Amino acid sequence: MKSSTKPTKVTLSFDNGAPSIELPILSGSLGNDVIDIRSLAKHGIFTYDPGFMSTAACNSSITFINGEEGLLYYRGYPIEQLAEHCDFMEVSHLLINGELPTSVQKEEFTRTINSHTMVHDQLTNIFRGFRRDAHPMAVMVGVVGSMSAFYHTLGDIHDAQSREITAHQLLAKVPTIAAWSYKYNLGQPFMYPQNHLSYAENFMYMMFATPCEKYEPNPILAKAFDRILILHADHEQNASTSTVRLAGSSGANPFACIAAGIASLWGPAHGGANEATLKMLEEIGDISRIGEYIKRAKDKTDAFRLMGFGHRVYRNMDPRAAIMRKTCHEVLDELGLHNDPMFKLAMALEKIALEDEYFVSRKLYPNVDFYSGIVMRAMGIPNSMFTAIFALARTAGWIAQWSEMNADPEHKIGRPRQLYMGEARRELVPISNRK
Ligand code: CMC
Repeated sequence: MKSSTKPTKVTLSFDNGAPSIELPILSGSLGNDVIDIRSLAKHGIFTYDPGFMSTAACNSSITFINGEEGLLYYRGYPIEQLAEHCDFMEVSHLLINGELPTSVQKEEFTRTINSHTMVHDQLTNIFRGFRRDAHPMAVMVGVVGSMSAFYHTLGDIHDAQSREITAHQLLAKVPTIAAWSYKYNLGQPFMYPQNHLSYAENFMYMMFATPCEKYEPNPILAKAFDRILILHADHEQNASTSTVRLAGSSGANPFACIAAGIASLWGPAHGGANEATLKMLEEIGDISRIGEYIKRAKDKTDAFRLMGFGHRVYRNMDPRAAIMRKTCHEVLDELGLHNDPMFKLAMALEKIALEDEYFVSRKLYPNVDFYSGIVMRAMGIPNSMFTAIFALARTAGWIAQWSEMNADPEHKIGRPRQLYMGEARRELVPISNRK
């Protein structure tokens, strides 16, 4: 909204002479102001906003995005600085506890997380109930949800210490579950976590090591992997985070809430886009075929969309995509894959799309998923694991948001209204008389 002074209230007037209603405008520390419509229900008035296009569903102090300028901050720190100077443990501490740790705090936090990396042995039976070709995200939804049956002695979700223990358990155990969902696909033995390794190295170890050979994670690849985790750790009120909050708003078990978040993340419009992007690049196959796919993406009669492009909030380059492209260069250089055809294809596609009037006028830019698949593929991670890795990174954000919600005195069960379009009351006809 363009004006020199900020309004502090808005008046809602009606064209039938009903008394107008004054609504306050709330300001956050950064970003758009919001009209506080909470009092409308008392007047029997509701608002309509499918897809939450204009609705702030909560207040939060965790992550800030400025979509016009392409800015992303975790607890006030720009993502570029965090990706450059921190590791995922520091970032998780920041998201969950509100501050970056000192070295002593980091050591203690890491030790705590490491002490929770093993999962209950009985959980392996849950894995074994799945088909071997089950998608890792299907396994993740099931196994993470099943944690609610294993760690049900948890205390009160309204107790800060209890929530903290839950956060530690999830952060520690979800990588083990993600890596095991891959091992289960392969038919290889589950590898137990090695707690002397860093968080990223440990995940790589559990994915790639076997009991038969010594496995040393490549430190450059582990660093790149850690950066992928940082970039995906939180993204304010996206679909999966909102799902975790909505599920948790009823006081539901936190492990079940995170499983709900994983389910939501899986969709190709959300976290599933990384797998879908690589599939799309493989399908395009060659720079000469880009035009054909751009044409399809613009065709409203074709369901095809350019995967890894566009975002509800960013109307500019997704800052995570810029960092991911740089990481892509580093990883491919390290692996001697400078001429990786998939990376070249992605860069050519990005260039062509960014010059195309359709994408320019709609402000469609590459998002985080555009390059992440290429980096992970170069590391030897299969396509089917991309979204599972997104899920393990986002667990830090989900659990921070879940904790914040439970600590918020204004928190209420989430219960949207609807615009009913169905039949008005009608009288039932007994089955024998129905036509
Ligand atoms: N390819 C072609 N057209 C697109 C694309 C795309 N990737 N994205 C949006 N559009 C068009 C869309 O057809 C619409 O055109 P029109 O105004 O003519 O009807 C316009 O751009 C606005 O799109 P929208 O669907 O109303 O926007 P949205 O905010 O509801 O959707 C989105 C955002 C991310 C779901 C969408 O851009 C999309 O489907 N992108 C591809 C999937 C993807 O990469 N998702 C990852 C998002 S980032 C990571 C994450 O959140 O997990």
